Amino acid sequence: MRLRSFTVFEPPTEVYSTQHQYPNNRTSAMNRKLRMGMVGGGKDAFIGSIHRLAANMDGLVEIVSGALSINPEIAKESGKALFLAEDRTYLTYEEMMEKESRLPADKRIDFVTIVTPNFAHFAPAMLALEKGFHVVIEKPITFTLDEARQLKKKVDETGLILCLTHTYSGYPMVRQARAMVREGALGKIRKIVVEYPQGWLSKLSEREGNAQAAWRTDPKKSGKAGSMGDIGTHAAHLAEFISGLKITHLCADLNILVAGRALDDDGNVLLKFDNGAAGVLIASQVAAGEENALRIKIYGENGGLEWAQMEPNTLIAKTCGYQWFFALGSYFQRTHTGWTPRGLFGSLR
Ligand SMILES: NC(=O)c1ccc[n+]([C@@H]2O[C@H](COP(=O)([O-])OP(=O)(O)OC[C@H]3O[C@@H](n4cnc5c(N)ncnc54)[C@H](O)[C@@H]3O)[C@@H](O)[C@H]2O)c1
Repeated sequence: MRLRSFTVFEPPTEVYSTQHQYPNNRTSAMNRKLRMGMVGGGKDAFIGSIHRLAANMDGLVEIVSGALSINPEIAKESGKALFLAEDRTYLTYEEMMEKESRLPADKRIDFVTIVTPNFAHFAPAMLALEKGFHVVIEKPITFTLDEARQLKKKVDETGLILCLTHTYSGYPMVRQARAMVREGALGKIRKIVVEYPQGWLSKLSEREGNAQAAWRTDPKKSGKAGSMGDIGTHAAHLAEFISGLKITHLCADLNILVAGRALDDDGNVLLKFDNGAAGVLIASQVAAGEENALRIKIYGENGGLEWAQMEPNTLIAKTCGYQWFFALGSYFQRTHTGWTPRGLFGSLR
């Protein structure tokens, strides 16, 4: 049996253009870079610098202001390190939203990126929307479902954009997988196996000064979920994103495997999807020795796909007796300003 025919995914160029269609059908053509303000992401932080790297990739965004740390000294130092103007290096996000909103339209920020721990997502996001700024927010969107609903209501009222960053859906080979599933190359999806093992919480590093571990293992800062919220949500999102299906039922076994923790550091979940497909999701931060080994396998009537974040430019397509390896090729126009290097795919065509 062979996989049904499929085409190579090509991102719609408008996704990467500076043309944006607002909900009220107004189209805005930008002739300048977007101005970003950042909350969190100072020298004391992990993911903020990755956001800045990503924002720089297409040369269309510049960071112009920030409330970069909960610690005022670090906030100032971080602003200096990024060459932010002194009067736009703020000590609190409240000050940032207030002062930025009073700047002339051709100077103030266009959007805010929020890269604080989970408990500090909602308040700056809501304030940013109230002050008229679009928002990019790290996952998980908020601390509680009720807060998320309040943000949704505000987004609906204002017509502003709120983006939630599930990083892994951006990989070209993940987009390719989704496009193949959408056009039916695998047939009806029957089974999804997704695993996200990390090993960095194998010891009680939260007691040894690891700031990232400290808030992630504290229910008052992380929320109800530990590892399942921190990385299980990525796995669940990836399964839904590639398959186009929705998880409707689950049965979860959450574990605290390192004694002394208050939140899960490991979990196994059985899944049911809205087309009847079955799935398994494993998330663990105590899989000693693992780095960031997110991997998904998705099977339909005609064949399967496999993708792993540690080898992101390769997508394996399988059917009984055959395997194809797709690699990032010249068809993946990543931005409107550049192309990814020519890869294996070109030679397979
Ligand atoms: N999408 C992903 O792959 C991914 C990866 C890592 C982290 N995250 C998410 O990003 C967020 C941050 O995680 P991290 O590991 O970078 O945390 P971190 O502890 O390394 O950094 C948090 C930053 O926020 C600052 N901060 C805290 N409260 C603040 C406040 N009220 N005002 C201004 N700054 C404040 C801290 O000073 C620090 O600079 C979390 O929600 C996490 O779930 C997502």
